[in-house]
Amino acid sequence: MKITVIGAGNVGATAAQTIAYSELAHEVVLVDIAEGIPQGKGLDMFETMPVLGSDTRVYGTNSYEMTANSDFVIITAGLARKPGMSRDDLLAANAKIVGGCAEEAVKHSPNAFFIIVSNPLDVMTYLAFKKTGLPRHKVIGMAGVLDTARYRTFIAMELNCSVEDIQALLLGGHGDSMVPLPSYTTVAGIPLTQLLPQDRIDAIVDRAKNGGIEIVNHLKTGSAYYAPSAAAVQMVECIIKDKRRILPCAVMCDGEYGLNDVCIGVPVKLGKNGVEQVLEIKLSESEQELLVKSANDVKANMAKLAEMGF
Ligand code: NAI
Ligand code: 2OP
Repeated sequence: MKITVIGAGNVGATAAQTIAYSELAHEVVLVDIAEGIPQGKGLDMFETMPVLGSDTRVYGTNSYEMTANSDFVIITAGLARKPGMSRDDLLAANAKIVGGCAEEAVKHSPNAFFIIVSNPLDVMTYLAFKKTGLPRHKVIGMAGVLDTARYRTFIAMELNCSVEDIQALLLGGHGDSMVPLPSYTTVAGIPLTQLLPQDRIDAIVDRAKNGGIEIVNHLKTGSAYYAPSAAAVQMVECIIKDKRRILPCAVMCDGEYGLNDVCIGVPVKLGKNGVEQVLEIKLSESEQELLVKSANDVKANMAKLAEMGF
């Protein structure tokens, strides 16, 4: 396995580190426009391998030649949020960056799976899908794994129980209109609704929706990266190991949930072919309405991109 990580900033470097430490690939290539940064971070990580007993080779570069024939390309390049900024504020700047990175990377790795992380996530996944020309099962956006991880953490905090026992699902865009689904949330098989009153569930849902900005407000200089990088690596691992786990991921919809021509978070089975299946679960009328509203928000940003000539 060879994995390219584009963007050697907080999310990219942490993802590369996790992949290398867990020996998930024999080679990791970090790409960034900042001269010296991917080279320095890559070498520092490579030098960690004797201590940890991993044979992953880590390289850093400012160009794409070394990325040739990667099995995975993880795109984390772009601007991150600062306090007062929404993910959508990043739209124009990151579209230019992500569009360019996707086009360059696919030239060198035409058979790779692309995992998109840069924000605004759903629109960037759509852009990468268009720019790479790859089939939808190979271009997958990371957001739902992170958003459910936050949601699961807050439930475990509230119930003072193991995070491992919380099973949860969340749909929609990675933004204010994401759709957590308490109706599909269980704790060791017990419906969440039997364990918590509605007002506590509502408060947890609200905190999960605002999980990104909560970290931004703490850090002040950037956004979250430990949980985001772990989430992206989990998606890669599912594909490498053909685990067939069902995780919420942003993919191009082809009629599922009545949605077309939009990338948005839906439950996906991840295996050796990438997206093996998009699962269509039963939604209540209000859940379906929220999902459509979320898709419309994403489409509004796609329209802005089209106006800007992307
Ligand atoms: P960061 O600022 O630490 O790193 C971004 C890196 O991208 C920088 O090193 C920068 O030099 C590099 N870069 C910029 N233009 C580039 C180009 N054309 N080619 C290669 N590299 C380029 O930011 P961080 O925290 O790593 O976040 C990265 C992106 O991921 C942001 O857009 C952020 O909003 C997004 N994000 C998305 C999450 C999600 O759930 N989908 C979660 C966390 C972050
Ligand atoms: C997050 O949710 C900023 O999208 C990023 O942490």
